[in-house]
Amino acid sequence: MLNALFDSAERLQTITAKKIWFIILKTIYPSHRQDDMTSHKSFITVTSGLNRQSPPMKLFEKAKKFGIWNPSDIDLTEDCVDWQSFSEEEKDLFLRLTALFAAGEEAVTLDLLPLIQVIAEEGRLEEEMYLTTFLFEEAKHTDFFRRVLDEVCQHNGDLSGYHTPSYQTIFYQHLPKALHLLKQDSAPINQIRASVTYNMVVEGMLAETGYHAFFTMLEKQNLMPGLRKGIRLLKQDESRHIAYGIFLLSRLVAEHPDLWDELEQEMNGLLYPAVAVIGEAFSAYEVPPFGLVEEDFINYAMDQFQKRFARLEKARGAGLEQVIQTTNRVIEEDDA
Ligand SMILES: [Fe+2]
Ligand SMILES: [Fe+2]
Repeated sequence: MLNALFDSAERLQTITAKKIWFIILKTIYPSHRQDDMTSHKSFITVTSGLNRQSPPMKLFEKAKKFGIWNPSDIDLTEDCVDWQSFSEEEKDLFLRLTALFAAGEEAVTLDLLPLIQVIAEEGRLEEEMYLTTFLFEEAKHTDFFRRVLDEVCQHNGDLSGYHTPSYQTIFYQHLPKALHLLKQDSAPINQIRASVTYNMVVEGMLAETGYHAFFTMLEKQNLMPGLRKGIRLLKQDESRHIAYGIFLLSRLVAEHPDLWDELEQEMNGLLYPAVAVIGEAFSAYEVPPFGLVEEDFINYAMDQFQKRFARLEKARGAGLEQVIQTTNRVIEEDDA
C-alpha cells in the first residue's frame, strides 16, 4: 500500500516536471506559425527582387492606373432627376438591386481580410501587394452604392427586407463562414472554398449579373448616367478581382491537383442558391419593371458560371508556369 502511494507521488512529480519543461520550451521556441509571424528571415525586395512578370504584379500595375477613381467625384445630379421620374414599381426594383449591391460590397469588404492574412503569412509579397488594392476597391464600391441610396434615392430606412433567403444563404452565411474559417485553418482546400465563393460565385456570377441588370434597365433610355459611370469603373475593378481569383485557384490546383474534385463540388454546390437569388428577386413582381425578362438573367448568370468554370478547367493538369502564362494573357486582354 505504502509502495503504491510512493509510486503515484513519483509519477505525479514526473508529470508535473514534464509539464513545466513543456511550458519553458514553448516560451523559448514558440510554434512555427508564431515564429513566422513575429520575425522575418529575409526580405524579397533585397534578395530576389519583385517578380514583375507575375500575374499579381501585372494586376497591381493595372490597379494603380485604373483603380484610383473616386466615388465622391461622380456627378449624380441627373440621376436624382431620373429617380423622380420612375414609377413606384421601378423605384422598388431599383432599390432592391441597390440594396443587394450595397450589402454585397459591404460583405466582401468585411470578409476579405482573412485571405489577405493567409497570403501574407505564406510570404507571397506580390500577391499581397495586389490584394491591398483589392480591399481598397471593395471599400470604394461600398462607399459608391451607399452614396446612391443617400443622394439619389434619399433612403435612410432599413432595406434588409430585400435580402431574400438565397441571398442570405450566400452573403449572410456562406461567404463569411468560408473566409473566416481561414483564420483557424488555412489549408489549401479552405483557400479553394473561400476563393470559389468569393471570386467565382459572388463576384464572377452574381455581381456580373447585377451589372447586366443595371445596364439593361438604364442604358437604352439613357437613364442615371452617374450610376452607369460608377458601375463601368467598378466593373473594371471587379474584372481584376476575378482575374486574381482565377490565378489563385489555378495556382492552388496546379500545386494540389488532388483538390480538383472539391473545387468542382464547391462550385456546383453554390450554383443553386446563386441562381435562386435571381428567381427570388423576379418573384416579387407580377410584371417585372423596365421590361426585364427573368430568363435572360438566369441564362446570363449560367454563362458567367460556365465561363469561369472553363477557365479553371484549363488549369487542371497544367503546371505553374503554364498557369502564369494563361493568367497573364487573360489580364492583358481584360477578359477574366
Ligand atoms: Fe466590389
Ligand atoms: Fe470585388
